Amino acid sequence: MPKTIIVSNRLPIKISKAEDEYILSPSEGGLATGLGSIYKQGNNVWIGWPGIEITEQQDKDYVSHQLKELSLIPVFLDQEEINQYYEGFSNEVLWPVFHYYASTYANYKQSNWDYYQAVNQKFRDIILSIAEPGDIIWIHDYQLLLLPALVRNELPDVSIGFFLHIPFPSHEMFRLIPWRSELLEGMLGADLIGFHTFDDVRHFLGATSRILPVNTSSNIITMDERSIVVESFPMGIDEQKYATLPLQDDVKEQIEQIKNSFINTKLILSIDRLDYSKGILQRLQAFELMLELCPECIEKITLYMIVVPSRDTVPQYAHLRDEIDKRVGNINSIYRTMDWTPIHYYYRSFPIETLSALYHTADVCLVTPMRDGMNLVSKEYIASRTNNDGVLILSEMAGSSKELIDAIIVNPNNTGEVCRAILQAISMPLEEQQRRMTAMRQLVSKFNISHWVKIFFDRLKEVKLMQRSMQARHVSFATEQSIINRYIKTKKRIIFLDYDGTLVNFKSNIEQASPDEELYNIINKLSEDPANQVVLISGRKHENLNQWFSHTDIYLIAEHGSWFKKPGTNWHKISGLSDQWKHDIYPILETYVDRTPGSFIEEKTYSLVWHYRKSQNGLGELRASELMNNLKYLASDKGLQLLAGDKVLEVKNMDINKGKAALTLTEGKDYDFIIAFGDDYTDEDIFKALPETAITIKVGSNLSAAKFYLRNPIEVRKLLTSFTQHTTVEVG
Ligand code: UDP
Ligand code: G6P
Repeated sequence: MPKTIIVSNRLPIKISKAEDEYILSPSEGGLATGLGSIYKQGNNVWIGWPGIEITEQQDKDYVSHQLKELSLIPVFLDQEEINQYYEGFSNEVLWPVFHYYASTYANYKQSNWDYYQAVNQKFRDIILSIAEPGDIIWIHDYQLLLLPALVRNELPDVSIGFFLHIPFPSHEMFRLIPWRSELLEGMLGADLIGFHTFDDVRHFLGATSRILPVNTSSNIITMDERSIVVESFPMGIDEQKYATLPLQDDVKEQIEQIKNSFINTKLILSIDRLDYSKGILQRLQAFELMLELCPECIEKITLYMIVVPSRDTVPQYAHLRDEIDKRVGNINSIYRTMDWTPIHYYYRSFPIETLSALYHTADVCLVTPMRDGMNLVSKEYIASRTNNDGVLILSEMAGSSKELIDAIIVNPNNTGEVCRAILQAISMPLEEQQRRMTAMRQLVSKFNISHWVKIFFDRLKEVKLMQRSMQARHVSFATEQSIINRYIKTKKRIIFLDYDGTLVNFKSNIEQASPDEELYNIINKLSEDPANQVVLISGRKHENLNQWFSHTDIYLIAEHGSWFKKPGTNWHKISGLSDQWKHDIYPILETYVDRTPGSFIEEKTYSLVWHYRKSQNGLGELRASELMNNLKYLASDKGLQLLAGDKVLEVKNMDINKGKAALTLTEGKDYDFIIAFGDDYTDEDIFKALPETAITIKVGSNLSAAKFYLRNPIEVRKLLTSFTQHTTVEVG
């Protein structure tokens, strides 16, 4: 039975050594706790690092055996790999850059990068050793960004999902990394790339389209003819577990103990891994400010702060730990009374039962990261509030703030705001607490971890189906042969050819895309065959087509069907259409040219085109959508159509389109072979207008109404050349 291979740097179970014994315990961190709680429910294996260096082979064998029972497969890392791949590249380059700490903490070292690549390859080899046909591979997080492409190179058809558990930064941050292209290419080995929030998706698409030569259309990236879908899937938690834990006897006991220890004081809970991204020092500052400004809070509010040890061999983390120790010591020494300690601080991890008792009891949960991919602690607090009371204060920089909108949302950099939020929280009326908590509990309950896994996998299956149907539509050798056979057998053919992007590659300067010798040869040979009517149907101006093709024997249609030229006759333009609307539209387009350096207007007989291919990346797209909005109503009043194409926005008379133009040549004629080639949105009108028997071929792999697709103009020319090798001999 096919299985799912989950791959992450850290296994959900970590190993530590006490005296001569290896001890297994749950790992901390959202990825391990979230997915770790349910992975055993399916046919899954999980590959990852067990958290310590193990050198002896017999110990490795022993640990592997123990882990196998739990469907876990260890990747053993030696000390140098831990130093350079895990601490060095993952946690001193990727973690700070992705959390917007590039200038303070990022340390770009070539040897760290070398190790990062080598360890990603090590993970690949282990995957390859267990992968079987039909398996799905699900790779997680920033430590393994290269892995999807490494696996894809070896198993081209396998389903690969990738999920990033931390934020994906804006392109301005990401591009600082010396190895940015390699990292993106690595991720694009996946079929589906998931992030926690839509902002991460936008940042990733922005970075990819700026850094790599790929095609991006809404949330689909096309690379090497493979479509990769990018989407947000906010991770949930095992809500049922947290909702039922407070009913357990041992948890109930701990709840009582906590209540008895904090009788006359409101309890504020804070739980994080040791990390500068969690805003722990800033939170302490806000708490101190509150004690300073609100003397009546003394002895009435207690902060219960758990910091879970994490990465403390990385210098910035060790330093942070010292700073927290100092700050907590200072606050406690200044404000402590005989009966009360302001901060109860623990630098260690706790079993889930204790966490549950704390979540269930705390009046307020204070979650104020400077940046956080999701933050599961905030959701665990909500799920544990079985009485529907309690208040969550949540940083707007946490991914979960996009969902938990009924929390008190704060900017963690605004100490005054956090301080006011604490005061608001402790005095919030029960009714308001219940209203907010009920809404958030419903959300956490519905979007739980099983839901997250399900929608990710459903989408991955859809993406794979989409890719397969695209593959099936590619003109394979067999399809090509059957098209050629049909061509040979027929006696009256019409061949519609779009120009840019179909017969020649798309060029940033439109003048540069002139026809070459090979193309003239193909066109001439095709039109020499008396059974063929070759039609060049383009959006270009008729003057332009005239200059390039008037000496050939083909039918020319220019400006999407505004101008026609039958071989041997003069150009004539379609009659009865008005172009008066241009007086109103032209000045509007001019204001966009003035505001967008590099853009310009092209005037055609019945259309105006605003080109922005030479404008700053992103700015052109922004202005184009602004322009679309601006023209929307005016255009429909005047019977115009707005067409957003590749770096152009065209405003044209609605009555003109390539489909109608093509029909004027085919209707009433008894062509027995109709074929049309085209690459962009305007060609879709031809594909839709032609009769069912026509062969329609889209160039490029985007979705289309065409029956087949070819990858590029080279493949188009190859097929046309095959036609020319079968000249029809006129009997007569
Ligand atoms: N956690 C834990 N032991 C502890 C304290 C916390 O296992 O003593 C868990 C906590 O329950 C949560 C996870 O660690 O599931 C932290 O995940 P979060 O998404 O909040 O932050 P991350 O550590 O992933 O940055
Ligand atoms: C975050 C990351 C995880 C990581 C966890 C704990 O949640 O997204 O990939 O496992 O922190 O960090 P650690 O370095 O201890 O694995």
